[in-house]
Amino acid sequence: MVKKRTVKSKQSKTYIPSSQESETYADSYNNGIIQEDLEQIDKYIYQEEMNFFKQEFDKREIEKTSVPEDSIPICADVRNYDFLQLAKIHQEVKGKLFDVIMMDPPWQLSGANPTRGVTISYESLPDPSIRQLPIPKLQNQGLIFIWTINAKYRMSLQLLDCWGYKYVDEVVWVKKTCNNKIAKSHGYWLQHAKETCLVGVKGDLDMSDKEIPDIIFSLRRGQSQKPEEVYQMIEELVPNGSYLEIFGRRNNLRAGWITIGNEI
Ligand SMILES: C[S@@+](CC[C@H](N)C(=O)[O-])C[C@H]1O[C@@H](n2cnc3c(N)ncnc32)[C@H](O)[C@@H]1O
Repeated sequence: MVKKRTVKSKQSKTYIPSSQESETYADSYNNGIIQEDLEQIDKYIYQEEMNFFKQEFDKREIEKTSVPEDSIPICADVRNYDFLQLAKIHQEVKGKLFDVIMMDPPWQLSGANPTRGVTISYESLPDPSIRQLPIPKLQNQGLIFIWTINAKYRMSLQLLDCWGYKYVDEVVWVKKTCNNKIAKSHGYWLQHAKETCLVGVKGDLDMSDKEIPDIIFSLRRGQSQKPEEVYQMIEELVPNGSYLEIFGRRNNLRAGWITIGNEI
């Protein structure tokens, strides 16, 4: 401990007799050095902690992003990807087009502050670029799942229509925290705690024997990252199907699925 070498005056004010000045300043100097040392140690501990968390985070990211066996990742810009060739090859290999298509479009929002201050970490696409996707050439019978947002709800219904699907249902993902509470996020009118995925059908399909609920209640994940449970739901609905995901990321790669996106 550093002793404070001061003498109290009658008025109980602190003053330093000139004879002790140099000693006092030397002590405060030492005190300063100790303080600096402590700060250095704190910084060091903080840095070590940060390194530890970063290593743990990187480890998990590597696990998350490793490519599962039997998944087919395709890194491409959908605006110039040859979907017709994909359909042709798929037809040749599997003898059919896709049973299920799922997409989570990078919706482009208009307005002054469309994302209300939330930075979106990927490129977005204007509606016409999404509409131009040759979806009708990829499926002649089956289901399509389109993740949508409030501002694009009508647009998503129009897409279903223009691609030749009947809107039949929607899946709602209610996000929860690790404490099993509803995970609220931002929103203009109401705080959003859910995401919606529209379901469209093309052709004659009979799913009446399935008893699959339309709600997923699972942990909130990284930005825009959709829940694992949606794949389980789809695979239960259409077992052993051919599955295509458009606008997927590495975290979406899954055995039995072809995944296309520009971040893969
Ligand atoms: C909403 S995110 C998809 C999130 C994903 N469903 C998940 O669970 O992590 C949309 C993705 O589409 C990608 N994207 C944007 N423009 C694209 C383009 N022209 N071609 C292909 N992918 C594109 C974005 O980079 C982003 O990865």
